[in-house]
Amino acid sequence: MSSTFPQNARSSRISGFHKMSPEQRLAEVESFAGLDAATTAQLGKAGNIDPHLADHMIENAISTISIPVGIATNVKVDGRDVLVPMATEESSVVAAVCNSARQCYDAGGFITSMSSTNMIAQIQLVGASDPENARIRILERKAEIAEICDACDPMLVKLGGGFRDLEVRIIESKGGPMVITHIIVDTRDAMGANAVNTMAERLAPQIEGWGQGKVYLRILSNLADRRLARARATWPVEAIGGEKVRDGMIAAYQFAAADPYRASTHNKGIMNGISAVVLATGNDTRAVEAGAHTYAARNGRYTSLTHWEADKDGNLTGAIELPLAVGLIGGATKIHPTAQACLKVLGVSTASELAQIIAAVGLAQNFGAMKALATVGIQQGHMSLHANNVAIAVGAVGEEVAALAAILVEKKQVRQDVAVAELAKLRGQG
Ligand code: MEV
Repeated sequence: MSSTFPQNARSSRISGFHKMSPEQRLAEVESFAGLDAATTAQLGKAGNIDPHLADHMIENAISTISIPVGIATNVKVDGRDVLVPMATEESSVVAAVCNSARQCYDAGGFITSMSSTNMIAQIQLVGASDPENARIRILERKAEIAEICDACDPMLVKLGGGFRDLEVRIIESKGGPMVITHIIVDTRDAMGANAVNTMAERLAPQIEGWGQGKVYLRILSNLADRRLARARATWPVEAIGGEKVRDGMIAAYQFAAADPYRASTHNKGIMNGISAVVLATGNDTRAVEAGAHTYAARNGRYTSLTHWEADKDGNLTGAIELPLAVGLIGGATKIHPTAQACLKVLGVSTASELAQIIAAVGLAQNFGAMKALATVGIQQGHMSLHANNVAIAVGAVGEEVAALAAILVEKKQVRQDVAVAELAKLRGQG
């Protein structure tokens, strides 16, 4: 079968690649891909982590990619003012939080809470001939299970965490019934994946014995619905531009609540804020995103992560609730110097505080998107910032960037072809 890809003379089976230094690997990649010197130099530039630290974080590292970190201002959470670092490549995201938070600041900002810091790990048992009995046999061993789990992580127990509860479910699958054990573990200031995965793996032989079946998977669930972060806020109707704006925003929410096509985009906007803080603090964006979207579908139909209403005084109130498994210790949070610095900016001392601030940012982000969508549309605000990117993309430098961006916005034509022509004019070449 002929391939439409250009054929490469070299093989991708590079012996010992994983043992090389990042610089040696980059040289291999340069020669494999036929990179020019400027491209290789670009990949060789260290961002704000040393390539050798990157090499400890992941396999086969050759480079790092820097994403801007912006600060969301005006954020008040539970009476405390915070500056929130957000790592994002998308324009308008940080500005939207600043504006949204400003409009509820005088009314008290965000009130937040957290259900617990409990995580769930699952142990899958198949082939039990008597799944109902197997379930009860496993439940009878709760005290032993608690002991085995806690023995895996004495430090966690010392810090007040450890095993909390046991659940055993029977699920019907294409392969017949499965007995699914959930261990519920308080992982405190850790995101907890390592702690609960170790416990689940350690328990597997016992579960096989008690359940009389075969254990396959032993892994945490990202549907961390015991670790829910909540935030709410009230926006005075006059601060948001009146009843018409409020009603348009409530209609926008009702659209998302009723329609998965809209809910997907509505929640994507929420995650613009949430993932940006999760990333800035070195936490696992995919874990949080998986948990959020699954939670949004928990009742069988995908819906909005937020809820919006008018209160008895006619003000707009919003609330968000979602699983937020983030930590302060372990993983990239602990070793990435910029993540550490971002945590210092936030001034948080527990993982729950961090999760609660993140929930507030998600709510603010949603407010900003809904307000723009229900009034002027998002292109107006988005395009002014996007115009800068287009200007840079066509080669504008220094003062040319702002000047060219202003022309594109003025013409309401933020497009690459227009930017090329306008840049030439600016340079007297048009
Ligand atoms: C764009 O990144 C996010 C929005 O589409 C969110 C929304 O539609 O609610 C503006």
